[in-house]
Amino acid sequence: MCGIIGYTGPLAAKNVLLNGLSQLEYRGYDSAGIAFFGADQKVHVLKTVGKVARLRDLCAGIQEEIHCGIGHTRWATHGGVTAENAHPHQAGRVTMIHNGIIENYHQLTADFELEEKLISQTDTEVAARVLDALYDGDPLASLRRFQPLLKGSYSFCILFSDHPGEIYALRNVSPLVAAYTHSGSIVASDLTALIPYTKKYVVVPEDRVVKMTPYRMAFYDENGHEIQPEILEVNWDTDAAMKNGFPHFMLKEIHEQPDAMKNTILPRLTRGLPDFSEDGIPDQIFADCSQIRIVACGTAMHAGMVARAIMEPLLRIPVLVSVASEFRYEDPLVDSRTLAIVISQSGETIDTLAALRLSKKLGASVLSVVNVKGSTIARESDYVLYTHAGPEIAVASTKAYSVQLAALYMIICRMALVRGKMTEQDGCAFMSDLLDVIPAMESMIQRKEEIRQLVRPLVDKPDAFFIGRNLDYAFSLEGALKLKEISYIHADAYAAGELKHGTIALIADQVPVVALATQDRIFSKTISNVREVKARGAYVILIAKESAAVDEGLADVCIRIPDLHDRFTVFPIAVVLQLIAYYASLLKGLDVDQPRNLAKSVTVE
Ligand code: G6P
Repeated sequence: MCGIIGYTGPLAAKNVLLNGLSQLEYRGYDSAGIAFFGADQKVHVLKTVGKVARLRDLCAGIQEEIHCGIGHTRWATHGGVTAENAHPHQAGRVTMIHNGIIENYHQLTADFELEEKLISQTDTEVAARVLDALYDGDPLASLRRFQPLLKGSYSFCILFSDHPGEIYALRNVSPLVAAYTHSGSIVASDLTALIPYTKKYVVVPEDRVVKMTPYRMAFYDENGHEIQPEILEVNWDTDAAMKNGFPHFMLKEIHEQPDAMKNTILPRLTRGLPDFSEDGIPDQIFADCSQIRIVACGTAMHAGMVARAIMEPLLRIPVLVSVASEFRYEDPLVDSRTLAIVISQSGETIDTLAALRLSKKLGASVLSVVNVKGSTIARESDYVLYTHAGPEIAVASTKAYSVQLAALYMIICRMALVRGKMTEQDGCAFMSDLLDVIPAMESMIQRKEEIRQLVRPLVDKPDAFFIGRNLDYAFSLEGALKLKEISYIHADAYAAGELKHGTIALIADQVPVVALATQDRIFSKTISNVREVKARGAYVILIAKESAAVDEGLADVCIRIPDLHDRFTVFPIAVVLQLIAYYASLLKGLDVDQPRNLAKSVTVE
């Protein structure tokens, strides 16, 4: 939610800020703005409703050389999408951009008697006015007084008009990474904006203040003492965050899945079995637990649903999956014998983070499956299993889902070995099946043109239904989410056997039903449900294994996936479902990578 960037140094700041905002745009894109010190040493602000491209046009008129500025791309929380509500916000000598939510902004408005002064409806303007009221010409001292007054999550970049060339930044919960390079100092919501300039960076520690000048970057604790945060190194380069000839990030990321799978699995194999010693994850956590709670949001939660469907029958212990935003408020049964598995691509989703903190407080061991190194969830977890998908830019998650599944399958295998539910031989066979999914995914990616053609009948329909049983049901949840989030076709997933308890009332002539029937054990049951919808006129797209016997006329289209063990069909299916959503969005002429109302990293509750 919202992308922020600040730069001061010898480079042309206008380009650094605008290019950075383009990289960060996936975090929110309803308005954008920049503030900079002009040649007159004064702060100037340009902001607009709309995407970064529109801000870029607005900035075309800036002729002067700029070397210090801040930029923001917004996902509206407080206040509608208007130019007044767009960032930066100004109050007296303070110019501020913000990612997050200041929860006590009402109280601050009253305490500082701001009601009459506010121009926008944002919590950020309140924060800017509070800081201006506290400001005495000493930015660091003023920020030290400011920070304890704030409740909520935030990352800020701030210009003080009487300190040209300097940028101040601070954060609580909301992400912020920073780097000092030979080309100046830069800070941003995430690494994608930093990597064109450096591979070395720091995660700005919470409740610390960063002072950036063209020559130095310094971090201060709450007592004003300078501290030295750990320097991290990113292991991917600029190419990873570019489209590289693909028309959309989503299509590029679909294609990257086989490599992402290899990168996640292969370094963790020892004699064909999962080995987490390099990750520092002890077997003890798998041996000791009496229940597993999986918490996550969105696609990550769907990966958890798949894992659950395999884990519980195999491990014979209770496994529950919760939506993180619900888990927090359901007074969950969690204790010291609980293993909490927290899944998050970004490592910053606020509800997932809150669920992690609650699990820890209740005594659970927390193992997280995270893609972004050094993210808050990764840092706060007891143990982390990093997925190695590289940056995922498209809002609709694709490769992150596949590697989350791969990581979870490895956890399942390790756990089954530790708990005596699998022999080493079974474990090797399981891992070999997992590796076999990679060519299966490749083969589905190669068939993308075929999938594009079969999507055509879907695009003018208002609704679509995804059905399946057991694991197929877990897969279909993700298929429905993918379709609705980028094509705006209303799509829902149902356990196929549950259809007749209500939803079948919605099945009429030509209503699309995507039926997943890849579980041998219950294939005939699912096929009976397919017959039920077909009998009511549905347009059926059936996904089944190569060797499955499918009667003529049962489905309008049948997509065959390679013959894999039932547990592993999710991987090629994921590719098919992603491509269905991708082409539906494309054929409807929609913005595939940046669908309306969404943002990739959800850092507000
Ligand atoms: C947003 C994204 C989804 C993602 C979810 C959880 O809704 O659009 O793609 O699955 O957040 O994000 P996380 O980073 O925690 O996996």
